[in-house]
Amino acid sequence: MYYNPYFEETLQKIDETGPIPEREPDRQIYFVKKMRKLVKEKSDQLGRPLTCFPQTFGCQMNARDSEKLLGILKEIGYVEASKEEEADFVFYNTCTVRENANQRVYGRLGYLNRLKRSNPELQIAMCGCMAQEPSVIETLKKSYRFVDIVFGTHNIFKLAELMYRRWTTGERVIEIWNDTNQIVEELPAQRKYAFKSGVNIMFGCNNFCSYCIVPYVRGRERSRNPEDILQEIRELVQDGVVEVMLLGQNVNSYGKSYGTYDRELDKQKRSISFAELLREVEQIEGLERIRFMTSHPKDLSDELIEVMKHSSKICRHLHLPLQSGSSRVLKAMNRHYTKEQYLALVEKIRREIPDLSLTTDIIVGFPGETEEDFEETMDVVRRVRFDSAFTFLYSKRIGTPAASMYDPTPPAVIQERFERLLREVQRISAEVCCKDVGQIQKALVEGIDEKNPEFVTGRLSNNIMVHFRGDASLIGKIVEVRLEESRGFYYIGSV
Ligand code: 5AD
Ligand code: SF4
Repeated sequence: MYYNPYFEETLQKIDETGPIPEREPDRQIYFVKKMRKLVKEKSDQLGRPLTCFPQTFGCQMNARDSEKLLGILKEIGYVEASKEEEADFVFYNTCTVRENANQRVYGRLGYLNRLKRSNPELQIAMCGCMAQEPSVIETLKKSYRFVDIVFGTHNIFKLAELMYRRWTTGERVIEIWNDTNQIVEELPAQRKYAFKSGVNIMFGCNNFCSYCIVPYVRGRERSRNPEDILQEIRELVQDGVVEVMLLGQNVNSYGKSYGTYDRELDKQKRSISFAELLREVEQIEGLERIRFMTSHPKDLSDELIEVMKHSSKICRHLHLPLQSGSSRVLKAMNRHYTKEQYLALVEKIRREIPDLSLTTDIIVGFPGETEEDFEETMDVVRRVRFDSAFTFLYSKRIGTPAASMYDPTPPAVIQERFERLLREVQRISAEVCCKDVGQIQKALVEGIDEKNPEFVTGRLSNNIMVHFRGDASLIGKIVEVRLEESRGFYYIGSV
């Protein structure tokens, strides 16, 4: 569990029987204390602790948000259940990047409603990106009345207050903010791993790629104050963390716009670039590895390449979403780079940092994409030879500019292209993954191998996994491993 010192101090001081503080995070700390009492009363009455279960969909941002939600729940007295069937509070932290994710959530919510019949104490919360869509809220209001609390991406820090409202009024609580410039990061978080952690450095996105719903559901870009980020990382390191993943929708535009800080509105803000931030994070003693996600090719600076090149802590991995290899499609996608510019950027990065592994995201079937456009994507894939690539079928998101673009291409043709791309990506990945066989590299041991309890799983600097003989005592340690054999996407090795 990660505690912010401000949180601990305020929790001691605050009088939960007094008036509600107006400013955050004090207001939430007040409601944490209020909820604690209610939860204690309830569990005394039931003769057992109340339990909760987090259900997270989507990206690293959501995973980090869920850690914060779980942090609040633990703080008010819930213990984590091992499955949702055994929980008194289940939250669905949702993703809406592609339509099929939404359908899955509706299906699962229906299942939860049936669980309510066997456990009258069960409360259901739905939050995250899906909840920011007006059409989803309409559907929830009409057909999913059993969902107790609905909130969005901008107000997750308010969980304690929303729960308090639900508990004391008996009414369903729906609170969605359209946008925010607030950043409230002083609340506790329950980390999934003791030795590594995500750290938000910025929220939102201003890029408006024409297919993407993220700018609508995550709001405008706002960066955290560098001092707050550095302080959080120092505290995480003190708490045993050796690897951090700096998180932002587009980390390369870090520092361009800041959020406000309710606690210290007048705090002197220092404006630094992402590369400068990395330089400062690097100085933190005890921190061993730095990762970051995601980089937009249009803003990847020479300064960043320079910092990565000379860093001993920044991992040798860059996720650089391509989306399409066709300059025509890239223009329609509003990506602000051409095929040639992407290839030139990759060449520059590889020249400066030869051992860097590159991964990417690719969308197949953007409206109007022709066979020639698709071949351009295949061409980039063959030239760059990505270590791995996440491939997606284009999904129409209502409200985005691409949703009103006409597409004459039959779905079967798109599906066939998708499969062709996938085969090519996998063939290349397997070849790339073989290239380090025989080398000795450092791996951070993340856990016991799921398939073989006598083995552990470690992550190499370039983000590829290696499985080798070992036990639980190695978890969280960085060890040197000989890469003995490639298995396509991972290695088998030995200490
Ligand atoms: N359809 C398909 N894929 C999408 N992505 C974002 N929006 C869509 C969409 N509408 C993909 C992009 C992005 C990744 C996180 O999800 O490739 O990089
Ligand atoms: Fe979506 Fe583009 Fe922003 Fe990434 S950069 S979140 S793809 S709008």
